[in-house]
Parts: sequence; structure tokens; C-alpha cells
Amino acid sequence: MTALAMLTLGANIISAQVKLQSNNIDDVLKAMTLEEKAMLVVGGNRRIESQEANGMLGGHARQVPGAAGMTQAIPRLGIPSSVLTDGPAGVRINPRRENDPNTYFCTGFPVGTALACTWNTELVEEVGKSIGNEVLEYGCDVLLAPGMNIHRSPLCGRNFEYFSEDPYVTGKIAAAYVRGIQSQGVGTSIKHFAANSQETNRMGVDEVMSQRALREIYLKGFEIAVREAAPWTIMSSYNRLNGPYTQESKDLLTTILRDEWGFDGIVMTDWTGLRNTAAQIQAGNDLMEPGSESQIKDIIDKVKSGALAEKDLDICVKRILQYLVKTPSFRSYAFSNKPNLEAHAAVTRRSATEGMVLLKNEGNALPMTNVKTVSVFGTTSYDFIAGGTGSGDVNKAHTIDLMQGLTEAGLQVNSKLATLYKDYQKYQQSLAAAAPARGGWFLGKAVLPEMAVSRPIVNVQAQESDLAIITLGRQAGEGSDRHEEGDFTLTDVERQMITDVCNAFHLAGKPVIVVLNMGNVLETASWKGMPDAILLAWQPGQEGGYSVADVLTGKANPSGKLTMTWPVNLIDLPSSANFPNVRTANRTRGNNKVELQDFTKHKEGIYVGYRHFVTEDKEVSFPFGFGLSYTTFAYSKPVVKATKDGLVASITVTNTGKRPGKEVVELYVSAPAGGLDKPARELKAFAKTRELKPQESQTLTMSLSNYNLASYNEATQSWETAPGKYTIKFGASVNDIRATGTYNLRKQHVVKCHDVLKPSMEL
Ligand code: BGC
Repeated sequence: MTALAMLTLGANIISAQVKLQSNNIDDVLKAMTLEEKAMLVVGGNRRIESQEANGMLGGHARQVPGAAGMTQAIPRLGIPSSVLTDGPAGVRINPRRENDPNTYFCTGFPVGTALACTWNTELVEEVGKSIGNEVLEYGCDVLLAPGMNIHRSPLCGRNFEYFSEDPYVTGKIAAAYVRGIQSQGVGTSIKHFAANSQETNRMGVDEVMSQRALREIYLKGFEIAVREAAPWTIMSSYNRLNGPYTQESKDLLTTILRDEWGFDGIVMTDWTGLRNTAAQIQAGNDLMEPGSESQIKDIIDKVKSGALAEKDLDICVKRILQYLVKTPSFRSYAFSNKPNLEAHAAVTRRSATEGMVLLKNEGNALPMTNVKTVSVFGTTSYDFIAGGTGSGDVNKAHTIDLMQGLTEAGLQVNSKLATLYKDYQKYQQSLAAAAPARGGWFLGKAVLPEMAVSRPIVNVQAQESDLAIITLGRQAGEGSDRHEEGDFTLTDVERQMITDVCNAFHLAGKPVIVVLNMGNVLETASWKGMPDAILLAWQPGQEGGYSVADVLTGKANPSGKLTMTWPVNLIDLPSSANFPNVRTANRTRGNNKVELQDFTKHKEGIYVGYRHFVTEDKEVSFPFGFGLSYTTFAYSKPVVKATKDGLVASITVTNTGKRPGKEVVELYVSAPAGGLDKPARELKAFAKTRELKPQESQTLTMSLSNYNLASYNEATQSWETAPGKYTIKFGASVNDIRATGTYNLRKQHVVKCHDVLKPSMEL
């Protein structure tokens, strides 16, 4: 008998009057059959057709084609279905529907990395409000976002969806994003919990790490988001973590998440098939997505055989009911399918400029002054990349390319060069159309191979235009990691293009600007000396070309700073010794051949990103926290005062330059000797000024708790803040400390935790 048939039978014998209300959850639970309980904890995607045939479809999930998942409706108990939709850069649903003249496009916002680089929690909250409004108005209940895994290596294919190599920035930006979305009365699913730091073998790899690295680096961001923003849901990852799958880890999903952090929402799996359902439920994984008949059957069989206690299932069912009564579906919200896309486009355009990072600006090449004609090089200039691929992609109505952006800003783009690129683009597209498909939506649209431009053509351009812009593009996404060659490093054609354009334009006394249109880190040390300016535009969302032009022309002053280190070489990162696709002395891998490995040992422990580089005093290409401005800022002498449970630090920032601008102040802490081994300094707070006019000042105040200063001691299984003198450093980047203060902690501060998730093998 199918689960559905059993369900119908169950419904016949039980005459239930009870209908779900926010105050009768226990009664509804009591009225549910075993089959109904099993159905509720298994997502409903694959059974819509059969449900309709049986007259069972409730809710409106069918009305949101393209949404990633749903929960099952049980109409006899008044339980609606709810709709779960991707993803971090905006709502991902199908833009067109059968026999329907309307369109359902969503706004493509800047990718997660770009948002984090704004260091502006208010702005991120505003972006969240706009995305949340589209979730609501398109009839969805939960956004499967934000992605908040740690940038352990620049090769992770999904880094563009994530925020940083640092857990504190990650947690603070995520909390702001969640607050923004949830202010609209819809939920979020912070993901992927936890340590989903690589795409290679993501369904099988065991991420092996010390308890300290786990707590301090890979869980901390989630802890901050859970404690500060109470997300409705959290998504357990595909991978294993120190042994078991995260989805089956009671230590992770109950002991740490609920008992220690107080999470009271639901945990759903990432989009996995049948695993050990009993272990998932016992672990506290409430919902299996996207859901299959076999999972329902498995749960029913296991309860009947005694392998799964019904009371454990009841815990998950009750939590799902508690989640459902918060949803717009439950209150039958009359969604419009008409969010204000125009208003959201303006939010996108503005937020993207604030996340852009000016990496170099020699001789004040930017903002452009007295520039009328521009030669625009690079295939990506004419085919701008709004966001990454896979579930992090958004079906937006358009993407503004750089050519459009510059033209709207009143610049004359050299049309001969533009025509060359457009013809090349057409030719490449015709080749692609003739070639077999590369794997559908999952891989997304490929970036065209760079077009080689001959020196004579470049030389003519240097005569005809006032300035050259070169865009370098990279694309990546879910399902595979990036490669070192050609993804992290430049291709030969790109290197030649930069060399030739810089030579020709510099000979003519004209500047060259490089725009980086990517969601991840690029090798820059070998070529950054050549151009006059480098603007890291990230993947800035659908208005990208406008946003870049706003920054290049000075309409917007860039105030983004890096939330990750840009190393000289990939191998300088300690994680490279144990990350797929990195060339090392004893590991030679073909560029396209990825070996599956069953485990990844995090031998570097807590020394991820800048924590390694500052402690070892090792050279980088661009440090964590770095970003230039068109103006300059002075930092006052700071004030640091002890409070009841920590400290409050303040500093006054003055705009000493000639243009209005915003400044991010990063607060790093160096711990006293005598406690645990610590990085030379760690980010513990940050703040951003409003836009300051020339000569204007603002005092920024940041509070820190003693708990925030703690490190995780595996010997005592507790967070410990050692007594002694802490140096509080106010930086414009991790390597540019402008002012210091001190904080004395008299007594050790301790928070006891559970001894769980020990490494599954020797590190
Ligand atoms: C991704 C998730 C996403 C889900 C639903 C999975 O493959 O890892 O991030 O939310 O699909 O589309």
C-alpha cells in the first residue's frame, strides 16, 4: 500500500474536528495518524501530481513553479503546505508559467560576498527587506538563505554565496540579512550547517577538524545568527562532520544548536535523497527535503518495527506545526505576484556600489575626470555576470552590462572595438548552441573564453580613446569547485591583453582600469603593477553595469572592504595542503580531473585566512579588511572602557579628503600571553560611518562581551577568556592599524560546553 493510500485510510477512520490554530498544536499532534506525521516531516515536491489525483493538494505550492521545495498539506487538519524557495541573491522561481501571459521575474541582488564587503549591516538589512518582500508577494514562505559557510579556500565553487573567511563578519552580516527578510513575515533557512566548505564530493566528504576550529571558525557565524536573529529554519549540509552526516548528528543539531544556543526553529536537510531517516529524526533534523515516497515509507516502517520511537517523530512534527503557524500560507496571505521590482532595482544598484572594493588607484586614475571616450576590453564587459550559477542564481528580467552602464553615464564607448566583441560573442554563442548542453541550470551560462585582441588594434584604440577599461570575468557555482589554473590564475590570453593594453595606453599617456566581475578571489600579485586602477566589482546583481559606472565616474564613492585575504599564491594558504584542485609538489592533478576524497583534514585548525597571515607575518596581495576610497579618513585617539561584562570602544573618524565617503573601522583584539595559543589579532567588532562630507566627523561605538573575546579550550570543553591585558586595535585593514587602546580583564571568564564532535581521525 502506498503511503498515500494508507493516509487516506487513516483519515477515514479518524474523524477529526480539530483544525490547526496557533494555540492548539498539541491537539493537532494528537489527532494525527502515523502516516500523516511521516508525511509532514518529508518534503512534498515529488508527490504533487499524485496528491492532486487524490484531491489532497492544499496550500498554493502548485502556484509557485520553480520554487525549490515545500512542506506537505494535510487539509483535514487544516495544515497548509508551505513553500521554500532559493536563494541568497534573490528569489529563484520560474519566470514564466504555462498558458499565462504574466511574468514572474525576481530581482537579482548582489551576491553574498559583495553584500558582506559593504560591512554595512543596515544596508544588508534593507536588501533583506526587499528580498523578503519578493518572497512574500510571490507566495512563498521561506527563503533558503543566507549561505554562510566559511571561505576556507578561494577554490570553493560556492564562495560567492558565502560571506567571509571570518566567522564574526559572517555572523553579523547573516544576522542583518535574516532580520531584514523576516521583518516581512517570512522565514529564512541559514545554510549549510555546517562546514560545507568544498563542493568536491560534497555528498560524501567528512570534514575533519579539531573541536576548537569547529567551534571558533565553522560554527561561530551560525551561533551569532541564531542568537541575534532567530532564523525560522536552518539547513543541515550534505557533508559529514567529524564522522556522521551533519543531518544525522544529534551532537550538532540538538546538543549544540538547541541546548547550547537556544535555537527553537526547524532544521531541514539540504536537498538530499533517502539516508538514515531514523538517525535524522533522532538527531533533531525535522524536515527531509525535497522529499520522496521512500522516505515516508521508511519512517512508517521504522516506527512500526520499533527502530524509531514515535515520540521522537512527534518532537519534529510539533516543531513543524510551530513553524507553519508563523507562515503567510497559514494565514492565507493574499500575495500579489507583483512586488515593486523597480524599487528593488534601485536598492540593488545602490547596495552593489557599496560592496565594491577599490584595490588600486594610482595617480587618482579614478574617479574618471575629463574622460569622454573609452575603449572597453574583455568579453565580460559586454556580457556582465550578475551572479553565480546553481541554486544561487536568480531568474531576473535583465542584466545591465558595462557597455550599457557607461553609455548611460554619458561616456562614449569605442564602437569599432565594441562591434568586434559583439561579433565574437555571436560567433561563440553559435558554437555553444551547436555543442551538447553542459548540464542545464546547474552549471548555468558559461563565461565566454577571452577574445585575443591583436596589438595593432590595441594601438589604434590607444590613439582613439581617453582611457581603457578591461573587465575580467569568472563564473562558478554549486556542484564543483574552481580550479587553480584559469579560475584563480589568469589565462594566457588575459595576461597578454592586460600587458598589451597597458603598454599601448601608457605610451599614449592614458590610464587603464581593470574591473573584476567575479564572486571569488583571483591571483593579482603577478599583474597588479600594470594597470592604474583595479576595481573589484564582484557579481553585483542585475544592475551591475550601472553600479560599476556609478563608481568609475565618482557618482558613488567605493567603501567596500575585503572580507577575505587575497593571497600572493594559492599555496600560501594553509588550507591548500588539503583542498581539491590545488597543485602541490606531491599532488599533480589534471585541470579537469577531480579525485573524490572521502575526507578533508583541516590541519590548519583555526588558522584560516588572515589568522594565518598575520600570525606568520606573511606577505599577501591584498589583506583582509582592505579597500581604498576616493577620499581619506583620520582616526582619533580611541576610548576603551570596561563594562559589566566586557568593554565599549569608541573612536572618531573624520573625512580629511575632498569627496563625501563612508569608512569602515575594524576592531581587532590581541590577547594577553598565558592563555591559549591565539592568532596575532582577531576581528571582534566593526562599524561603518554614514556618508561623511569633507571635514565631517562621526564617533563610532562598538561593544564587546567577554564571551566574544573567548577561545575554545578543548581540555576543559569551555569558552575561556583569559585574564590580563588585551590590546584593542582600530584598523582600516588587518594590516593597517590606526589606533590602539587596552582592556584589562581581572578574572577569567568561562562558559562551559558539551564535549561533542571530536575529530573522527587523527589530524
Ligand atoms: C543546495 C541548497 C539549495 C537547495 C534547493 C541544494 O542543492 O545545496 O543550497 O537551497 O539545493 O535548491
